[in-house]
Amino acid sequence: MDESALKHIYSGKVRELYEVSHDRLLMVATDRVSVFDVVLADVIPDKGRVLTALSAFWFDATADIVANHVVSADPTDFPEIAGDVAGRAMLVRTTRPIRLECVVRGYLYGSAWTEYRETSTIGGIPARAGLREGEKLDEAVFTTTTKADAGHDMALNPAEAIEAVGRDRYDHLRTVSLALYERGAAHAAGRGFVLADTKFEFGEIDGQIVLIDECMTPDSSRYWPAETWRPGAPQPSFDKQIVRDAMAATGWNKEPPAPPLAPEVIASTRSRYVEVYEIISGLSFDEWFE
Ligand SMILES: Nc1ncnc2c1ncn2[C@@H]1O[C@H](COP(=O)(O)OP(=O)(O)OP(=O)(O)O)[C@@H](O)[C@H]1O
Ligand SMILES: [Mg+2]
Repeated sequence: MDESALKHIYSGKVRELYEVSHDRLLMVATDRVSVFDVVLADVIPDKGRVLTALSAFWFDATADIVANHVVSADPTDFPEIAGDVAGRAMLVRTTRPIRLECVVRGYLYGSAWTEYRETSTIGGIPARAGLREGEKLDEAVFTTTTKADAGHDMALNPAEAIEAVGRDRYDHLRTVSLALYERGAAHAAGRGFVLADTKFEFGEIDGQIVLIDECMTPDSSRYWPAETWRPGAPQPSFDKQIVRDAMAATGWNKEPPAPPLAPEVIASTRSRYVEVYEIISGLSFDEWFE
C-alpha cells in the first residue's frame, strides 16, 4: 500500500495502524506471527485475512454485550489508497487503549497450568487441588497481564490490576470479558470446538469502554477440537499453539531471534486457521473480501 497517503502511526507485532482522520484508524493485520512476544521471520500466508474475518464475525456476534471499535471491514468504505489491504484491514474508531490484557480461562493450560503447578493458584487466585493440564475449570477465571511496550507481558494479580486501572474499570472489564468468553465458548461448543481461553483488549472513547484490537481469533485464543479433548496431557489445537509447540521443540530460549519455522508447520497452521474461521463463522473463506 502507498504508505505516504495515510499516516502510519504504529507497528505492533502483528498489526499496522494508520491514521485516517482524527477519530478513525485503519488497522491492518499482517501475516506475521509472534510467539512468546517475539515476531518470527516466517509469515503464515492468509493469516491476516483470517484474523480480520474472524474478528469481524465475533465483533458482530457480541455487539450486544459491549460496544466495539469496528466501523467497517468492507474495503469499499476504506480510503481509496488502501485497496490492496482488502480482507485484512478494518476501519475502526480511535480509542485510548487500556494498558491491560484481559484474559479469560475456561480451561487450565499454558502459563496458567505452569502457575498452578508451582503455586496452586490461577492468576494469583487459589484454585482447588487435583486439577490436570487442560482440565475444564469449575468456573471461567478472569486474569490480567500488563501490555508491555517491549519484551514480555507480566502477569498481574487482581490487586495489582485494580491498582493499574482502578476498581470500577477493573470490575467492568472483568464482567464484560467473562460475558464475551461465555458467548464465545457456547457458540464454539455448538460447532465442535472448545474455546479454552482468550484474550481481550479494550479502549476508551469519551469514558465509554470499547472492545478493540481482535476478537476470539486463533492468535488470541486456544481452540481445541471437542472430540480430541482429553485432560491430563497437551491438547491438539487449531490455534497459535501449533507454532508455539514447534518453537519449543527446537529448545529455543524464547529470546529473539526465533528459529525458522518448518514449511509443514507453516502449511498446517495456515489450514487450521482457515478451518477454524470457516467452522466458527459458518462462512466460506473464499467469500471473504480479496
Ligand atoms: N481501536 C483502537 N484504538 C487504538 N489502538 C488500538 C485499537 N485497536 C487496536 N489498537 C492497538 O493496536 C495495536 C495492534 O497491534 P498488534 O496486535 O500487532 O500489537 P501487539 O503486538 O499485540 O501489542 P503491542 O501493542 O504491544 O505491540 C495494539 O497495540 C492495540 O492495542
Ligand atoms: Mg495484539
